[in-house]
Amino acid sequence: MSVSQTPVADFYSDTQTLPTNDMLKSVIGVKTGDERHGACPTTNALCERVADLFGMESAMFLPSGSMCNQIAIAVHTQPGDEIICSRESHIVFAEAGGLAKLSGAMVSVIDCERGLFVGADVSQLYRRPSSFAPRTRLVVTEQTSNLGGGAVWPAEQLEDVAKTAQDLGLSVHMDGARALNASVATGIDLATYANYHDSAWLAFTKGLGCPVGAVLAGSREFIQHAWHFKRMFGGAMRQTGVLTAMCLYALDHHVDRLAEDHARAKRIEAVLRGCELFYQVYPADTNIVLAEINPQFGITASELKAFLAVRNVHVMAVGIQKIRMITHLDVGDLEVESLLAGIDAFLESI
Ligand SMILES: Cc1ncc(COP(=O)(O)O)c(C=O)c1O
Repeated sequence: MSVSQTPVADFYSDTQTLPTNDMLKSVIGVKTGDERHGACPTTNALCERVADLFGMESAMFLPSGSMCNQIAIAVHTQPGDEIICSRESHIVFAEAGGLAKLSGAMVSVIDCERGLFVGADVSQLYRRPSSFAPRTRLVVTEQTSNLGGGAVWPAEQLEDVAKTAQDLGLSVHMDGARALNASVATGIDLATYANYHDSAWLAFTKGLGCPVGAVLAGSREFIQHAWHFKRMFGGAMRQTGVLTAMCLYALDHHVDRLAEDHARAKRIEAVLRGCELFYQVYPADTNIVLAEINPQFGITASELKAFLAVRNVHVMAVGIQKIRMITHLDVGDLEVESLLAGIDAFLESI
């Protein structure tokens, strides 16, 4: 088999999964209806289930995680308000400045290890009410931290941040794109992680392997307010049962198996730690591995990425020297071996 015929091993992101046949079968005969009028029983069932998981009153189905974040920000802030979050937050680096455009909000970012900060960081950045200062209004946490390499916030640290914010009169929102990865890795439930948070959401398109969807949860009042922005931002849909049936399927069948993704990420981490190409490999707490190429090789992450791509192995260059690899439903042991063999071949080629 020539290199170009080797099966694709896609570690670029856990968003690259294709729905499984069983997941697709779960759609057949599903009860659906107009979700924007609350008339889709399958979507309603999914929303209730996610609200329960977070220990919150209510929830709504949305097409994407970015829309969950943007709607939550729109509900929690007024134009001119300030949001406190890590510099590495998805809302800062990957949502096209939506918080400024859609909500007129600004950010005060925390530089912290692996995207995880503490309550004292929030107290330090909090601005006391003044006619000069922007109004500090919202704190955003990200469980797990994507750019932090899938780092898991310890429950006490998350609670310290959220409680500090609440004591200061701020709202707290959790980007829980990969919160279930944290939960499976630690055995701590989502409701504990969501303690003292006013809103939180879960992605179905990442480790859970669905093609579309995220669910945003909060109080009844929060969700009622969020519906205004769901309609405004074009996130109100119609017969979403064909999508939410797959999300329910994933909750039943694809949660426990996240542990397999974590084990594969740990294997990649362990091998790369012994590879001279890298001078730093971050702990793979969940399904993300970050590794930095030793600058002494004079090689960029983009060059390594391009070399691997020719062998049908895909990774992301997230910095000049840093690569990111994510394990998921569509990469098994064989794909892990292709990745590791590709990295070996690269080392030999330089
Ligand atoms: C931490 C985090 N938040 C938000 C998002 C956005 O989710 P979506 O791609 O569904 O908009 C992502 C996507 O990768 C993410 O990793």
